[in-house]
Amino acid sequence: MQPSRDCGRQRYDFFSEYHTDSVFFPYFCRMIIEAKGIEKSFGTLKVLKGVDFQAERGEVVAIMGASGAGKSTLLQILGTLSTPDAGSLTVDGTDVLHLGQRELSAFRNRRIGFVFQAHHLLPEFDALENVTIPALIGGLPMRAAREKATRLLGEVGLSARLTHKPSELSGGEQQRVAIARALVNDPAILFADEPSGNLDSKTKEEIHRLFFDLRDRLGQTVVIVTHDPSLAALCDRTLVMRDGQFVDAQ
Ligand SMILES: Nc1ncnc2c1ncn2[C@@H]1O[C@H](COP(=O)(O)OP(=O)(O)OP(=O)(O)O)[C@@H](O)[C@H]1O
Ligand SMILES: [Mg+2]
Repeated sequence: MQPSRDCGRQRYDFFSEYHTDSVFFPYFCRMIIEAKGIEKSFGTLKVLKGVDFQAERGEVVAIMGASGAGKSTLLQILGTLSTPDAGSLTVDGTDVLHLGQRELSAFRNRRIGFVFQAHHLLPEFDALENVTIPALIGGLPMRAAREKATRLLGEVGLSARLTHKPSELSGGEQQRVAIARALVNDPAILFADEPSGNLDSKTKEEIHRLFFDLRDRLGQTVVIVTHDPSLAALCDRTLVMRDGQFVDAQ
């Protein structure tokens, strides 16, 4: 149904290093997220009123807007954690609204990473285990999963904290574990909901820099909901949501 379904995975992988170069990709392959007419209500409260959203491969997009505007609701839908009442959604070439539950879980585990303000780290496991576990669920054998988790924790600057449990880590360190965890299955897209909301300004800056490093080094597409104008200013594009619709694009 969606044109981007024509783009097979093999082709994406083969051309992945060229993902930002439109010469190598027809228009419909460049878009990694295409949402059209997304509507969502909770009871009688209509939260999303026909939202269109697109993101290109390797783009970092900020979504801003007042509290209650519908930002998190939209992010949950784009991240396939929640389904809209109406509209269409293609993510990384897949018409996700028509996948069965098992296919959808597998797709999400493979292609999408999430970073939330409340980190949702498993408190009884250390940093390394928190990153290793989703890799095991993603199908990597134990040794490879641990090696990859160790490498990613190194990339976010936590090589010296592998055996610390979340309660033994600072807020910024916990957030970096959450980012390493979100990246462990090589997601095509990272969704972040107020990722630096409860951090001091220095840690906040480090986390912000990390998102852009990741995009530059690994080519991830990043969609960030934020109230922080300094983070939004760093992004390629900022969309402002008001009362369930985008009102502004820069
Ligand atoms: N599961 C739910 N059931 C009922 N109402 C909900 C539910 N989730 C969100 N809402 C309502 O939908 C509206 C939009 O919520 P949402 O969390 O998307 O806002 P937001 O833009 O992310 O706000 P904030 O900046 O405060 O995080 C709010 O009025 C909220 O109360
Ligand atoms: Mg929110």
